[in-house]
Amino acid sequence: MEGILSEYNPYLERKNDSLYLEGVSLKKLAEEFGTPLFVYSASYIKDRIRTYREAFPQALICYAVKANFNPEIVKIIGEEGAGADIVSGGELVVALKAGVDPSKIVYAGVGKTLSELELAVSKEILMFNVESRDELYILDSIANRLGKKARIAIRVNPDVNPLTHPYISTGLRKSKFGVDISQAKEEYKLARSLKNIEVVGIHCHIGSQILDIAPYKEAVLKIVNLYRELMKEGFNIRYIDIGGGLGIKYKPEEVEPSPFDLAKEILPILGEVEAHLILEPGRSVVGNAGILIAQVLFLKDKGIKHFVVVDAGMNDLVRPSIYGAYHHIVTVEKKDRAYIIADIVGPICETGDFLAQDRRIEFLEKGEYIAVLSAGAYSFSMASHYNMRPRPAEVLVEKGSYRLIRKREDYNYILYENSY
Ligand code: LLP
Repeated sequence: MEGILSEYNPYLERKNDSLYLEGVSLKKLAEEFGTPLFVYSASYIKDRIRTYREAFPQALICYAVKANFNPEIVKIIGEEGAGADIVSGGELVVALKAGVDPSKIVYAGVGKTLSELELAVSKEILMFNVESRDELYILDSIANRLGKKARIAIRVNPDVNPLTHPYISTGLRKSKFGVDISQAKEEYKLARSLKNIEVVGIHCHIGSQILDIAPYKEAVLKIVNLYRELMKEGFNIRYIDIGGGLGIKYKPEEVEPSPFDLAKEILPILGEVEAHLILEPGRSVVGNAGILIAQVLFLKDKGIKHFVVVDAGMNDLVRPSIYGAYHHIVTVEKKDRAYIIADIVGPICETGDFLAQDRRIEFLEKGEYIAVLSAGAYSFSMASHYNMRPRPAEVLVEKGSYRLIRKREDYNYILYENSY
């Protein structure tokens, strides 16, 4: 069943049985730019940032660049007043190129390298979300060498179960992320003793694709307790950064929580706290802005199973393969026809290369296009060159017009990018 498309993205609709995003025909885009093709809705992204800013009027919204690092997308988000949450030197470069002010950039990650830290210190970003004692020492020495002060938060692990896929749960004690909340105070004291470090915040991020808001409440309560203890000990905590993680609708029956739902639950807990709130949403800003269009190459009936072979695979969208993630798939042209149960698979030489398994879908025809929904986050940004396949083009649509925001790669691009 198709489900209600506007529940994924209000700019997605059927007109005369054909799929349109912001008034632009997806069939036309597929014909003009080829497939696989990522298409993103600019208005949707702007609306999401505005919604976050309305729900959290006092907060700084730092978009998690890892969800989608296309510079044009990051630029739109920056122009809406958001900052950036980065996890690498590359993401810092993208954020700066997109015009994000360094004073709105926060930097998390368990394995920041020397050169990445140097770049971020030299750019004087807002805050390093430090994940270990070793990182504190290195940061202090780099800041010393560069004659700067590095503002930091300790990433605290509140030991909360975000009730999501284990691979994207980060706030549990056993995960590699952050510092155990019971040891946090010691790390803060150490940080305070380092000359080139300025302690300014507390950071936590409990996980991703969180549909039930209760775990946020639990985490924020623990963070506010820590805040009070630290303030009592004379720290000047100016920022509480609660990370990202708000989930989105992937399945037709799912209802996604809105930033307002989150605000309603957590703002009362933060009531008397004077520190500025920071949020780091990624998926909930861009996830349902994006669609992956693929073309049907072949149909295989293997007796016990039908396969629809399309030109997009785990190299373009790896989420189904690694998390067993569900992505809703609809045909670009709707026709009156029978349904079958089939696996929709890509061209990659792995059995794990599928976009959908045992999916009820219209009896597709060779050459027609399908639209894989909710492909704006962790889709292109996790794409690879596996099987020597160039990465797809990306197109941005807005109010009836469209433009290419990343060219389709060719073989030379892959061959030469590592040449020396
Ligand atoms: N902040 C930090 C420190 C993070 O590690 C993440 C995501 C975010 C913010 C943004 O979380 P979001 O709002 O997008 O949930 N590849 C996986 C998701 C990995 C998330 C990693 N960290 C997926 O495709 O589901």
